[in-house]
Amino acid sequence: MRTIAHLSDLHFGREDPHIAEELAAEIRRLAPSLVAVSGDLTQRARPDQYQSARAFLEKIPVARVVVPGNHDIPLYNLYARFVRPLERWRRYIDEEIDPVFEDEEMIVVGISTARSNVWKGGRISVRQIESVRQAICSSRAPFAVLVAHHPFTPVPMLPREALLGRSLRALRAFEECGIDLILTGHLHLGHAGDVRDHYHVLDNSVLTAHASTSISNRRRGEPNSFNLITLWPEHAQLEIAVREWNGKRFVESARTVFARKGKLWLRTAGAPPTAHLKHGAEPLE
Ligand SMILES: [Fe+2]
Ligand SMILES: [Fe+2]
Repeated sequence: MRTIAHLSDLHFGREDPHIAEELAAEIRRLAPSLVAVSGDLTQRARPDQYQSARAFLEKIPVARVVVPGNHDIPLYNLYARFVRPLERWRRYIDEEIDPVFEDEEMIVVGISTARSNVWKGGRISVRQIESVRQAICSSRAPFAVLVAHHPFTPVPMLPREALLGRSLRALRAFEECGIDLILTGHLHLGHAGDVRDHYHVLDNSVLTAHASTSISNRRRGEPNSFNLITLWPEHAQLEIAVREWNGKRFVESARTVFARKGKLWLRTAGAPPTAHLKHGAEPLE
C-alpha cells in the first residue's frame, strides 16, 4: 500500500501562513509515502517567495515529486523569463524539473509543463512524452502516476479552460503503458475522473485528479484542500480523498474508490470528489 499527499498551487506570496503551518503539520501526521506538488509554488517567482516555498517543503520530511507551474517562471523580468526561466526553481527547490520517484509499488513521474512563451498555458514536449512513456513502460511497479501542473482534461465548471498542449497525443502514448493516474493543478478547483470522459477515443482508463489551491487565498469559491491518494496494488484499487480546510483543520470532504477491471478503472464507492459542484466556479480572488 502506498499513499500520496497531492498538494497544488501553494502560491507563496499569497499564502495563508496559518493554513500553511497546519498543512505541514497535517502531512507530517499523515506520513504519506510521497508528497506530490503540482506546481505554482510561488505567486511571482520572487526569491523570498521561493525561500518560503522551500522552508515549507523542508517541514515535510518525506519523499517528494515537485514540478513547476506557470507562476514559478518570472512574468515581468523578460530576461529571466525567456533566458533563465527556472533558474530560481533550480536554486531553491530542485535541480531536477522532471523528477522521478520509483519503488516496488509505484512509479511517480513529474514533468514541467510551464513555458515562457505561453505564460499561463502549458505544454508537454515530444521529448517529455517519450521520456515519460519510456519510464512507465520500463517500470515493473504496479502503479504509474504522472504529476504535472496543467490539466489534461477540463473540470465540469470550467469546460472551456485551455488544456495542456499535446495532451491527447501524450495520453495516447501513456495509455499503452498502463498509466493509472495523473495529478494536476492550475485551475484552483478540485475534481477527479477518467480522462475518457473527455477523450472518447482512448481505450484505456486513465484517472485524473485536479487539486485545488492548498494554502493560498486565490480560491475560486471552494475551501483550500489537498488530495490524499491511497494505492492498493494487491487489490488493484485506488482511492482519492479530498481533505478540505474547515477554518480550524483539514477534514475529509469526499472519498472515491476505483477498482481496475481490465483496461478500465471503475468507481466502486463514493461520489466523485467534486467539491466545486457545491460551491461553484467563481473568478480567481
Ligand atoms: Fe495556480
Ligand atoms: Fe497555474
